[in-house]
Amino acid sequence: MANNFNYKEFKDENNYISMAAEVMAVRAVGEVPLACIRTYGCQQNVADSEKIKGMLSKMGFEFTENAEEADFILFNTCAVREHAEDRVFGNVGALKNIKRKKPSVLIGLCGCMMEQKHVTDRLYKSFPFVGLVFGTHSLHRFPELFYHAVTDGKRVYETGVDDKTVYENIPTKRDGTFKGWLPIMYGCNNFCTYCIVPYTRGRERSRKFDDVVSEAREMIRAGYKDITLLGQNVNSYGKNLDEKVTFAQLLAEIDKIEGDYLLRFMTSHPKDCSKELIDVIADSKHISTHLHLPFQSGNNRVLKAMNRSYDREKYLDIIRYAKERIPDVSLTSDVIVGFPGETYEEFLDTVSLVKEVEFTSLFTFIYSPREGTPAAKMPDPYTHEEKTKWFAELLKVQEEIAAKRCASMVDNVYRALAEGKTDKDGILMGRTSGNIIVEFEGDEKLIGQFVNVKITKSRNWILNGVLFEN
Ligand code: SAH
Ligand code: SF4
Ligand code: F3S
Repeated sequence: MANNFNYKEFKDENNYISMAAEVMAVRAVGEVPLACIRTYGCQQNVADSEKIKGMLSKMGFEFTENAEEADFILFNTCAVREHAEDRVFGNVGALKNIKRKKPSVLIGLCGCMMEQKHVTDRLYKSFPFVGLVFGTHSLHRFPELFYHAVTDGKRVYETGVDDKTVYENIPTKRDGTFKGWLPIMYGCNNFCTYCIVPYTRGRERSRKFDDVVSEAREMIRAGYKDITLLGQNVNSYGKNLDEKVTFAQLLAEIDKIEGDYLLRFMTSHPKDCSKELIDVIADSKHISTHLHLPFQSGNNRVLKAMNRSYDREKYLDIIRYAKERIPDVSLTSDVIVGFPGETYEEFLDTVSLVKEVEFTSLFTFIYSPREGTPAAKMPDPYTHEEKTKWFAELLKVQEEIAAKRCASMVDNVYRALAEGKTDKDGILMGRTSGNIIVEFEGDEKLIGQFVNVKITKSRNWILNGVLFEN
């Protein structure tokens, strides 16, 4: 495929960063300007918020969790399900009081919801105190938009799609010091019939191979121990690039970098999940044994109606191969219950697939109609109440499987990254390569390091263990 994508350096906005810094130095209520950034949705949004924080840092901002003391409040929104949208509208409504008490505060909204016209129309009409709105495609123009919003005395609304350009070197302020996200591609071309993401994030575009590898190298050098490569469909990485590269090759190349780190990735789509990829994981030094492979439904008619482009048999084939090649493989998945027209019998195919695969954990969602997607127009005869019952049935099956899987880990030793304290005195929490949480007694100094933990007990899907010296 011809490459009609542009790759641009972030630099034209630096002027706006300096100008905004000057304005904010005067306008800030406290000694330094403070921003409160709240992020909803998936890791793509988390990674975008880290870029916004990077740009704000350059403007002299520091960060607070407390919206009341902030000079700038920004919600980075998610549109994937109705519930996610409702939460945002509710929380924005609550900001009205803050704006009344402190008129100088700038309230902004960005992210996936802002790429839907019915949402921005509603905001414009009903939430006049929101001074800045921009969509996922305008992230690189944030300094300019911010500057105008604070100086022009008018609301700034910037939405619409430019999905032909990839911007490199946008400043980034990562939330963590040892766990970090690394976007390798943006957008999605799959158009699963239920999903809003291709509309809010635009067409799939991969970052260049060397840019991704050098960023991974920098992160490893900076001490990151747990790096997750991000994309809506990482398996199709490289398809728009002139160079002939695959996701498996990208993983293999990063894996060659020396250092003590774990390499993760999400999300894999089963339609492009190759044996080559599983082989790379199996033969690697640093790639985690966790494979998140959303199947959505175990029924072939439903999968077809969802436009997922694989069937149950192909999915189970990949799973069989993964179990064979990666002995400790930890499988997780996303599932939708109650896709329009799904019958109870079809839902039972999902249950049987779950039993067959024995996932470590499942992210289970009740279908939520999204305006503008094909599924939203399909007949949907089953009630929410019925779907909720099926949903509960699936959860129960999965809980038993998870408990059984965790119980089978008792007495074994696993390497885990100590991630933080728990609310229990002296007890830390860490995560195994398979992404399973384990709690153990240990010194806070261990946080950010890999430790060996012998599992002593399992409670549902949480493990308890003790440090194990070898
Ligand atoms: N790109 C990823 C997932 C992105 S969205 C993939 O293809 O796997 C995360 C999950 O949200 C999806 O896997 C799906 O299970 C769920 N989801 C997306 N749209 C939904 C909708 N309209 N209703 C319910 N769940 C949905
Ligand atoms: Fe949505 Fe499908 Fe793309 Fe995932 S692959 S983001 S579910 S359209
Ligand atoms: Fe939500 Fe956008 Fe992610 S819709 S799930 S934040 S890509």
